Amino acid sequence: MAGKLMHALQYSKYGGGADGLKHVEVPVPTPHKDEILLKLEATSINPVDWKIQKGGLRPLFPRKFPHIPGTDVAGEVFEVGPGVKNFKVGDKVVAKISLDVGGGLAEFAVSKESLTVARPPEVSAVEASALPVAGLTAHQALTQPAGIKLDGSGKQANILITAASGGVGHLAVQLAKLGNTHVTATCGARNIEFVKSLGADEVLDYRTPEGAALKSPSGRKYDAVIHCATGIPWSTFEPNLSENGKVIDITPGPNAFLTFAVKKVTCSKKQLIPLFLSPKAENLDYLLKLVQERKLKVVIDSQHPLSKAEDAWARSISGRATGKIIVEP
Ligand SMILES: NC(=O)c1ccc[n+]([C@@H]2O[C@H](COP(=O)([O-])OP(=O)(O)OC[C@H]3O[C@@H](n4cnc5c(N)ncnc54)[C@H](OP(=O)(O)O)[C@@H]3O)[C@@H](O)[C@H]2O)c1
Repeated sequence: MAGKLMHALQYSKYGGGADGLKHVEVPVPTPHKDEILLKLEATSINPVDWKIQKGGLRPLFPRKFPHIPGTDVAGEVFEVGPGVKNFKVGDKVVAKISLDVGGGLAEFAVSKESLTVARPPEVSAVEASALPVAGLTAHQALTQPAGIKLDGSGKQANILITAASGGVGHLAVQLAKLGNTHVTATCGARNIEFVKSLGADEVLDYRTPEGAALKSPSGRKYDAVIHCATGIPWSTFEPNLSENGKVIDITPGPNAFLTFAVKKVTCSKKQLIPLFLSPKAENLDYLLKLVQERKLKVVIDSQHPLSKAEDAWARSISGRATGKIIVEP
């Protein structure tokens, strides 16, 4: 593929939103040692993609420019690096590319073998591409800090999931219900029936006073909150938590880190835990199997061709997605 060009979208500075993405033709990347060149079939967008472009996460994810964003990809193996053992040309796969590397808004991208997983034929490329960041974050939050056993064997737990209509939230509701849980969820009024259909036991409209207060309609106190929305202070969570209740905050800002520290230092039983995704191939494989067995439904907000990927970017920035936003080359 040396010297062959491909279509891609890249940005060359911080800021600019969807207008900052430029259509370019660049060389197809070359897979090194343990890397796989994928001919892409679908890429899903995550809010972190445009948050990095915005510049707010600069200390955590400094950017080298120009940068082709996109980390959650499904495609066909086109070429393998010399150290790749488990994949061959023609295999259908899904991969989580690191945020430093990106490359998903393009016709081809390179993934590490260690975060590449075979895609079963029953799972579409679109469904598979929706899983890496959103599915793995939901899985990690529920199984690790919240301690939910997804085979249903654990003791009963009351869970609150905020922004349950979004990319992470809609998967978190379904995964939580595989465990022994009672799920309360928050979303906008237009998505209440949708979130109930995912299995939530009770749903609050976040724009009502009860929803803003996160009060369980059945009076339950939460053992764990999977917090996928933003801007809710600890003082709102605190009265709704059980004695040892935890808020697992996947959108932690400075106040969350302060609360985390204070709760630790004071040995508080109620805790706030900031969570950052630590992706694992075995968990991606587990999620793919759930989709294959139709125990987990991937909901697609919208699909956009690569030639209009800036629309997908703008849709994600709007914060209005119901499920996942997909770009297809
Ligand atoms: N820590 C990590 O490793 C990690 C991993 C993945 C994601 N995240 C972060 O987690 C957040 C969620 O990600 P996502 O992909 O699920 O986002 P998303 O798909 O863009 O979420 C959009 C949905 O959130 C709903 N929503 C917005 N504010 C809400 C509120 N206050 N209460 C209830 N629902 C609300 C919206 O409903 P309406 O349209 O009705 O307002 C919309 O359906 C993002 O900030 C993302 O950056 C962090």
